[in-house]
Amino acid sequence: SAIEKGNYRHFMQKEIFEQPVVVAQTLRSYIRQLERRISLPQIDFDLSEVKRVTIVACGTSYYAGMVAKYWFEQFARVPVDVDVASEFRYREPVLEKGGLSLFISQSGETADTLAALRHCRAEGQTIAVVVNVPTSTMAREADLLLPTHAGPEVGVASTKAFTCQLAVLAALAARLAVVKGLMDRDEENQVVQHLLESPAALNAALGHDDDIAAMAHLIAPARDVLYLGRGPDYPLAMEGALKLKEISYIHAEGYASGEMKHGPIALIDEAVPVIVLAPSGPLFEKTVSNMQEVRARGGKIVLISDAEGLAEAGEGCMATLEMPKVHPLIAPLVYAVPVQLLAYHTACAKGTDVDQPRNLAKSVTVE
Ligand code: G6P
Repeated sequence: SAIEKGNYRHFMQKEIFEQPVVVAQTLRSYIRQLERRISLPQIDFDLSEVKRVTIVACGTSYYAGMVAKYWFEQFARVPVDVDVASEFRYREPVLEKGGLSLFISQSGETADTLAALRHCRAEGQTIAVVVNVPTSTMAREADLLLPTHAGPEVGVASTKAFTCQLAVLAALAARLAVVKGLMDRDEENQVVQHLLESPAALNAALGHDDDIAAMAHLIAPARDVLYLGRGPDYPLAMEGALKLKEISYIHAEGYASGEMKHGPIALIDEAVPVIVLAPSGPLFEKTVSNMQEVRARGGKIVLISDAEGLAEAGEGCMATLEMPKVHPLIAPLVYAVPVQLLAYHTACAKGTDVDQPRNLAKSVTVE
């Protein structure tokens, strides 16, 4: 049956709002609720023997892969390479025996990612795929199929597929840590607990829709926007910038907060809004001090954070947005919501075609 927009203006908006439900749905197939344990589909290779993970994807799926790198390294102590598929194919990557190649794709049909998959297959790598379309070519060609259960995604700019990819990747990272003996039962229970808290946190983040719509009017006149984040929220900054570019046609860049002083700080003036993603956690203070460097140069800041005393930290900011208090593990899922909504409302304010942005395709099946 045809997919309908229901009460929403755009598919993208509908898909953003579906996230609490589809992330919960996805998590259900990776978690054994009663035992509070992670469970993956049947695997016919030894996951504990994986020595290296090579992640390849395009667009938003690539940013999900970048977040996963932080998790795989932190939890499972496995070295990870992440590449965009169009680079990976031609750079003669060194693929060691016993490597796991992981492909992330909403459609499962992106030409560059599929070609990279086939290259890794020919090189004897074990192939895992995180895909949203279970009947796709990538799904068929995988040794290990890790489906996301986001349901059909119609908006060209990916939203719900991304947060579902993150949910699956967090589960995979934790499972890898468990089989490698690096995560005990208690820690696994904790991870499961945090993951299970994400649908409610996504809901709470969605509750700021009106605030974000108001903020979008401050962003819409800008020619350039900078997004800053650290750690696993650095890829989120890039994803935020990508969303804004895709649908509002405003030039945007995502940068690692600490790298700003090596270039982008030269761009800062009153005309360049800076969106700071600063979940509380070990890196919060560092991000705040990077933010002060922006403020000292007259930059207009939007601070998105769950930190205690946000009003104080956000003094002098153009706007602050209070996120639900969450464990750093699930922050990348939760902070996806404000960056998606900010792009969405900015595009609406500019009157662009949100679901069918110019020059872009939902699935790029040619090189
Ligand atoms: C296109 C879409 C993006 C998507 C990318 C990768 O560029 O417009 O939204 O992130 O392809 O697609 P995939 O289906 O492989 O995730």
